[in-house]
Amino acid sequence: MEPLMQENRVFNPPADFIKSAAIPGMDAYNKLCAEANSDYDGFWSRLAKENLFWKKPFTKVLDESKAPFYKWFEDGTTNASYNCLDRQVENGLGNKTAIIFEADDGSVTNISYQELLERVCKMANALRKMGIKSGDRVIIYMAMTIEGVIAMQACARIGAIHSVVFGGFSAQALRDRIIDVGAVAVITADGQFRGGKSLPLKAICDEALSTGECPNVKHVIVNKRTGSDVTMTTGRDVWMQEIVANESTTCEPEWVSAEHPLFILYTSGSTGKPKGVQHSTGGYLLWAILTMKWTFDIKPTDVFWCTADIGWVTGHSYITYGPLAVGATEIVFEGVPTYPNAGRFWDMIQKHKATIFYTAPTAIRSLIKASSNDQAVHPKSYNLSSLRLLGSVGEPINPEAWIWYYENVGGSRCPIADTFWQTETGGHMISPLPGATPMIPGSCTLPLPGIQAAIVDEAGVDVPNGHGGILVVKRPWPSMIRTIWGDPDRFVKSYFPEELGGTLYLAGDGAIRNKDTGYFTITGRIDDVLNVSGHRMGTMEIESCLVANPLVAEAAVVGRPDELTGEAICVFVVLKGGRPTGDEAKRIATELRNWVGKEIGPIAKPKDVRFGDNLPKTRSGKIMRRLLRVIAKGEEVTQDTSTLENPAILDQLKESV
Ligand code: WT7
Repeated sequence: MEPLMQENRVFNPPADFIKSAAIPGMDAYNKLCAEANSDYDGFWSRLAKENLFWKKPFTKVLDESKAPFYKWFEDGTTNASYNCLDRQVENGLGNKTAIIFEADDGSVTNISYQELLERVCKMANALRKMGIKSGDRVIIYMAMTIEGVIAMQACARIGAIHSVVFGGFSAQALRDRIIDVGAVAVITADGQFRGGKSLPLKAICDEALSTGECPNVKHVIVNKRTGSDVTMTTGRDVWMQEIVANESTTCEPEWVSAEHPLFILYTSGSTGKPKGVQHSTGGYLLWAILTMKWTFDIKPTDVFWCTADIGWVTGHSYITYGPLAVGATEIVFEGVPTYPNAGRFWDMIQKHKATIFYTAPTAIRSLIKASSNDQAVHPKSYNLSSLRLLGSVGEPINPEAWIWYYENVGGSRCPIADTFWQTETGGHMISPLPGATPMIPGSCTLPLPGIQAAIVDEAGVDVPNGHGGILVVKRPWPSMIRTIWGDPDRFVKSYFPEELGGTLYLAGDGAIRNKDTGYFTITGRIDDVLNVSGHRMGTMEIESCLVANPLVAEAAVVGRPDELTGEAICVFVVLKGGRPTGDEAKRIATELRNWVGKEIGPIAKPKDVRFGDNLPKTRSGKIMRRLLRVIAKGEEVTQDTSTLENPAILDQLKESV
């Protein structure tokens, strides 16, 4: 990533916010950090007892005996769904609205905690009746609906491990995940509504299952959403509405060990194969709850809105689990920010009186652009006075977008939590606390209490503030990744590499701490992973997809900075039939973009395609990616190219099709 534009103004949390905040002021923050430092186990033990319901209390907090396969609260038993739903109903919140669901077409459905519990129980009973049991893996391939949340919660209730696949992923990507996770069932929908269009899901699921490579999938459960035509395979496919119809509204939860896997979520790594990030039940849920309280300062009166999709970790922690586990009212939105127009978010905040709004920098940047010449969709044209707190997630927020968000959406009154975290971390790691931390745009500021984030050099040695380095976490924390599903060696190599001494968690990001404040700024990934619109994409994944195309001999993928999406995917391709030019180049570029879209999903479609007779290589045949990055940016290559075998190639690659 390009270095961020400098912005040195400090924005202090508003005085009245501090007064009622969960962590009121820096002294309160420092006190929590000190508690964690002086008695790590005691700190987490206290919080786990205060915040979770334990069927059987744990006797040991942290087990480091098989590090880095850490175990938290292992002999305690609990259930995530019970903590999210039953607990609220028992506390008298049965009639409170759990979810305000706004559909793509604007229609609104409210569902109370009591109703949500009953619907989850019915679904959980139905799943059990099909023979799905604790430890079984269930793929969820659904869009943003109440049923999506119900499907996840129902799995959690019976101890089945869900693995949600984002509804924008292709049949191939879905199939890979079904196979890798060994799923016994897939929960999907006939289709999804997005931006006024009806898009298929079941048909893609059928395609994923059509090759005979997923013999373990015995059931496909289909939520009727769009009413579009689907093919139902007898003996395998059932309608969600039909299987729940006669089920009981109560269902005894499966009491599982705190270490029982709650879910597996695939994310891109630096090799071609996505990683199945495995999360626990107890530690994960504890952190979802604590970050709802600490970062989002959640109060009983809040209307919380996280705009993420349940297909990403943000949707897991801050839609399906966190908000419900603290008994909040939350908005679940089916559609897209630009339909029917780019004022949709502001209209919904106004309509539902949202108090906390959590979205991604890419969305903010695209709405800045859309409202710059259309006052009707500008946030100033809406009443956003209900908002008291804003959040940002997924990628660095550039100071310019931060200031716009602060002034125009937050009315210069709402703190912004720039939350740095990852699929692997389960919840926020570094973020301002809205009632404590003075904010500096572009910096995610300080680690949350208990999180021992640090910056080290390539040998794992601490670097002084003001010097860039590698972001690590020095001690295990409850919501950390437990392993990579089916590949424990890769887990150790990826996250606890020996080069760093084997005990530091490697986030995969570069970072720098400010000399004076100690604030963290994330400088971007240090591996071959791109961040496009807040979505992680492995360059190798796209490369192997491209070379699988019959036209392609060789391909290299790099990122380049993009005003809107943060980073954009730029591919360099050598075709088997030689370098195309003119219209033919255009045609093949489109074909390749569509190919990647179809094989992986539309989010992986390359923005720039460049053709060459070859790729720039060293004499030993290694592709010189650093040169490709320079070319992708549209800059002149001024670096030393003396080790380059074929310098003439560089000129060919300058032209983007
Ligand atoms: C990567 C993780 C966190 C949930 C959504 C993305 C980047 C995330 C920030 C932030 C700068 C950020 C990092 C990280 N990232 N949040 N506030 N500032 N960068 O989860 O797909 O696992 O991606 O997103 O590069 O490693 P993910």
